[in-house]
Amino acid sequence: MDIRKLAVVGAGQMGAGIAQVAAQAGLEVVLIDQDGALVEKGLAGIRAQLDRAVTKGKLTAELAAATIARIKGGRSTDDAAGAQIAVEAVTENEAVKRKVFEGLARAMGTEAILASNTSSIPITRLAASVPAPERVIGMHFMNPVPVMQLVEIIRAIQTSDATYAATDALAKKLGKTTVLSKDMPGFIVNRILIPMINEACFALQEGLGSAADIDTAMKLGTNQPMGPLTLADFIGLDTCLSIAEVLHKGLGEDKYRPAPILRQHVEAGWLGKKSKRGFFAY
Ligand code: CAA
Repeated sequence: MDIRKLAVVGAGQMGAGIAQVAAQAGLEVVLIDQDGALVEKGLAGIRAQLDRAVTKGKLTAELAAATIARIKGGRSTDDAAGAQIAVEAVTENEAVKRKVFEGLARAMGTEAILASNTSSIPITRLAASVPAPERVIGMHFMNPVPVMQLVEIIRAIQTSDATYAATDALAKKLGKTTVLSKDMPGFIVNRILIPMINEACFALQEGLGSAADIDTAMKLGTNQPMGPLTLADFIGLDTCLSIAEVLHKGLGEDKYRPAPILRQHVEAGWLGKKSKRGFFAY
């Protein structure tokens, strides 16, 4: 399949990042959100990223201008018409994602690929909500999208070989390295990452070390770019908790139970960097 145009639904941090890398790879992009202010914010963020790259001498001003010109804004899934693939990156709520997929399926016809950037919702269930479920797939980008090398591809049990091949080729065209995961709770990355973060939360709760010492230990002791508690703040403690709950419920083992201190922070509204307070203050 020749993918020339990509629609992204959800103009938050992930959606804007996906739109940016797609436009930088030469694709026409439509960045859709029902909240027009978010679309504007997303586009402004992409412009700022590209300007920074120009200032650093990593990109010419002409290439930056051509990249931004390839991205249009949209307010409805109808604006995805004409795209060969849509990637949804809306809030981690299954009902919302199903509604988006239904709208995309109507607008794009049965040939287009419908990809989800979900970190935890079963792709098989999302696929079951649209006609031609064989064109549904998981395409899980990592945050920050322009920097992180990986895209996790998740095949639902319905996903066709053709959908998988086209999606894998697209991710590589965007400059990413892909891994293939089965459609199981947390896929590969979060199955391993979230228990590590959760264990850091238990360690903090038990007073094994201070938050700063736990992070320094893992950062300098295991060469991670950020310590686990800083990374949790960066991902969002609400997101970490919700993925931990998916692992616990989906895999049914006590070892995945979310740390009470993580739940407590979320209940306090201390969600990490985005709310200026999590395990650390920002
Ligand atoms: N968007 C775009 N570019 C960004 C960026 C952003 N949000 N944040 C940083 N960058 C760029 C910087 O511009 C800089 O680029 P140059 O090298 O070209 O100058 C480069 O990244 C390095 O940035 P900094 O020097 O400011 O900071 P750093 O070296 O500390 O790196 C980091 C920042 C890349 C975020 C690094 O700390 C890191 O890799 N952290 C771990 C991130 C991670 O694990 N992400 C995955 C989270 S899990 C997930 O996403 C899945 C899920 O479902 C929860």
